[in-house]
Amino acid sequence: MRILVLGSGAREHALVLSLFHDPAVDDIHVAPGNVGMKPLATLHSEVTRIDDPDTVVALARDIAADLVVIGPEIPLVAGVADALRSAGFLVFGPNKAAARIEGSKAFAKDVMAAAGVRTARSEQLTSELSDSEIESALDRFGPHYVVKDDGLAGGKGVVVTDDRTAARAHVDAVLAAGNPVLLESFLTGPEVSLFCLVDGETVVPLIPAQDHKRVGDGDQGPNTGGMGAYCPLPWLPADGVRRIVDEVCVPVAKELVRRGCAYSGLLYAGLAWGPDGPAVVEFNCRFGDPETQAVLALLKTPLGEVLHAVAAGTLADLPPLEWYDEYAVTVVLAAEGYPEHPHLGEVITGASDKSAVRHAGTAYNEAGELVSAGGRVLNVIGTGATLADARDAAYSVLSEITLPGGHYRSDIALPAVLGNISV
Ligand code: GLY
Repeated sequence: MRILVLGSGAREHALVLSLFHDPAVDDIHVAPGNVGMKPLATLHSEVTRIDDPDTVVALARDIAADLVVIGPEIPLVAGVADALRSAGFLVFGPNKAAARIEGSKAFAKDVMAAAGVRTARSEQLTSELSDSEIESALDRFGPHYVVKDDGLAGGKGVVVTDDRTAARAHVDAVLAAGNPVLLESFLTGPEVSLFCLVDGETVVPLIPAQDHKRVGDGDQGPNTGGMGAYCPLPWLPADGVRRIVDEVCVPVAKELVRRGCAYSGLLYAGLAWGPDGPAVVEFNCRFGDPETQAVLALLKTPLGEVLHAVAAGTLADLPPLEWYDEYAVTVVLAAEGYPEHPHLGEVITGASDKSAVRHAGTAYNEAGELVSAGGRVLNVIGTGATLADARDAAYSVLSEITLPGGHYRSDIALPAVLGNISV
């Protein structure tokens, strides 16, 4: 099988690596990819406009792809999957109408209301509102304010704060950028990321993971795209995955079918496990980053056949997924100044020869040195028989890598290891 993967982050590096180990996959192409994928795939680094349907269809034709796997949300929301399907390609990733589950938080809320799925109370604010109407809306929320950009913001459009002035400032900034704002009530409870393969009404969960979104230890500082993750979740109730599938993912999949925009691809349910069980914080229309790096490290079933089954509409016939009975932890090494103003071009040492490294924002400079080229620079993965072992393995690899000014969280998975998470 010849596969074209779209994307350039550590998530796509993890996808490409898993596909590389699938005996049914004999040729992998990536656009634009990153330098970490070079030993695994043919890179089309010049194809940077992966959100342009014509560009992607032309590339898929050139290489005669049997399957196209779309990593990031931007091409999905732009309708790249629709164009590929119209041109006759098998695609892993939802069409534009279904990708609105991530592309428009207001759409996601509407679907959840119709499907009876528990989620935060919300109100949409637009630039037509007066100053006093915005203040009244803020009065109806708080004291914990959740202010979201109702568009794609790479995980960085959300401000969760007890500071009313900061909440108002984010409302004003998002409106000034021309996007609507979503105010939400604060959901309590530990967060869960559950990725589900969805093919119409067929829903197959992967193992549950937890992301760490704030930049600093102890969940301090601004939100990021994600600073680390672990899986599975030792604190989740034994019926936790089944409840999320039955109470959230299946009702949403059925509602999308009912609306004529059946989902095909990966549905990422971001949830808070509160007193009544799972409630949805957000949906994403693609694999999560960095959770994917940990989840795929434990998947035993060859990934190519899994993604192909979803794309071909035969997910219901796929045998149950098999997993290694272990834990996985991934830790993100970020550039100095990330997430606000990442400082790029710093030389990285100790990363090139390590199989536990997944590249994200890396490149080679003219001297042939590996340098930082993005805010989240790379991930390391550790696996082990216990979560503590997996953590130790990840941090041990990270201790051998240097990046001037680079930073990472030292507490990924630590609350779970210490037994400090309860539901
Ligand atoms: N882990 C957060 C995201 O992928 O959006």
